[in-house]
Amino acid sequence: MRERPIVAIDGPSGAGKTTVSKRLAKRTSFTWLDTGAMYRACALAAQRAGIPWVDGKGLGQMCADLAIAFRREGDEMRITLSDEDVSDAIRTPDISMGASEVSIHAPVREAMVALQRKMGEKGGVVLEGRDTGTVVFPDADAKFFLDAVAAVRALRRYREWEEEKGKTYEEVLQEVLQRDIQDSTRRHSPLRMAEGAVYIDSTTLTVEEVVEEMLRVLPLPAGRTEGGGKP
Ligand code: DC
Repeated sequence: MRERPIVAIDGPSGAGKTTVSKRLAKRTSFTWLDTGAMYRACALAAQRAGIPWVDGKGLGQMCADLAIAFRREGDEMRITLSDEDVSDAIRTPDISMGASEVSIHAPVREAMVALQRKMGEKGGVVLEGRDTGTVVFPDADAKFFLDAVAAVRALRRYREWEEEKGKTYEEVLQEVLQRDIQDSTRRHSPLRMAEGAVYIDSTTLTVEEVVEEMLRVLPLPAGRTEGGGKP
């Protein structure tokens, strides 16, 4: 085991990965790395540059020059594109679908995975995404697959979005199901459970219950106590 462990959390949209991985990172004083935010930033950059999300070649060229970085602001991790904070701009239903579309292309994945490895290689990190335990760090010290039934995942997204976006629950459920299909049937790095991953169904669990379950199996280095982690 590394002195500073790498924790990989994968799973479908709405399974609770973001809330749980943020909380786990806080409890362990590890860095939180939201790999989905990077695909979202890529989709946003493409939209702004007029590159269609289906244009794998164009996206690959764009990714070569894409300056994606994370910046800590108090309790928050903000994502920047060429130093512009795009953390809010990437959280729209439109960009959610765009992120799923751009992530299909091998050149995009190669660029993002290379960046993620660089950001996480020193350890002391919680990565969340779709392939963090299968492709980015298959040798991660702890791997989890966080899941929940589709109706509950859609309900969580619906509650997040209902005020500003005015979508019906049915519409959100259809989007969640469509993204599930897109993310798990694509040719490159489809969403699947990593070998050796612990499966957690969050359908009826609270965030704290999921985090506690993870902490039970998390290999913390000798002498390190969890619980007093600073953000
Ligand atoms: O976790 P999220 O909803 O922010 O991810 C947005 C999209 O990015 C998701 O639909 C698929 C893609 N993604 C990916 O392909 N690989 C990752 N490691 C993370 C996200």
